[in-house]
Amino acid sequence: MKLVILGPPGAGKGTQAEYIVKRYNIPHISTGDIFRENIKNNTELGKKAKSYMDKGLLVPDDLVIALVEDRLNKDDAKEGFLLDGFPRTVAQAVSLDSILDKNDDKLTKVINISVDPEILIERAVGRRVCKTCGMTYHVKFNPPKEEGVCDKDGTKLIQRDDDTEETVKTRISVYFDQTAPLIDYYRAQNLLIDIDGAKDIDKVFDDIVIGLE
Ligand code: AP5
Ligand code: MG
Repeated sequence: MKLVILGPPGAGKGTQAEYIVKRYNIPHISTGDIFRENIKNNTELGKKAKSYMDKGLLVPDDLVIALVEDRLNKDDAKEGFLLDGFPRTVAQAVSLDSILDKNDDKLTKVINISVDPEILIERAVGRRVCKTCGMTYHVKFNPPKEEGVCDKDGTKLIQRDDDTEETVKTRISVYFDQTAPLIDYYRAQNLLIDIDGAKDIDKVFDDIVIGLE
């Protein structure tokens, strides 16, 4: 399975990705997570990315494409992968096609999760994440067993820096301007699976599995 999961901020890409990679035993490649890891480790890439991410803007294509090419060439991605948050522009999608083409490869499917913008804001602003394991929660829709603490490892949950209402609104509008055109790009290649992301988390996952199988 060589998959892309597409959708606006807060659509549930990361949440569904956790289930998908377990079921199909493939690596979860999230460009957002890779940037956040670099920011945490104070790398040059992290410093560059942070200035865009804090404003809700996209990191420039050249930085992202080089990073993804590098990651896809690792052994664990040879048989399959799930890309989450990449591609995000038509230029990134074209580059992905040519990276795969070099190995005579192509995508299996593109999962497109749609959710109304009002719900997206509530989801992103109420999101809490574990700094240690990356597990994602929501204060209302997916709360941890004990408030503010990760179920898996007991770490205190934090809010992402870009999950303020104002930045989320910018991210949503950037999505509609720059990323939504990919829906037509992949539909034209007959790769798209349309998923209603407004349903409960487990129902969304069931629909994805039906779409893939
Ligand atoms: P990234 O980390 O990719 O963020 P995003 O695309 O904005 O998406 P999110 O992670 O916010 O949402 P999600 O769809 O994963 O939702 P989640 O499952 O967490 O990118 C961040 C930034 O990095 C970008 O703004 C950009 O600057 C940069 N970047 C990254 N990739 C780039 C690229 N390729 N090019 C350029 N720049 C790039 O769910 C959200 C919340 O809702 C959670 O609390 C969850 O518990 C809850 N939830 C999930 N599903 C449901 C459901 N069905 N019902 C109720 N609640 C739900
Ligand atoms: Mg995510």
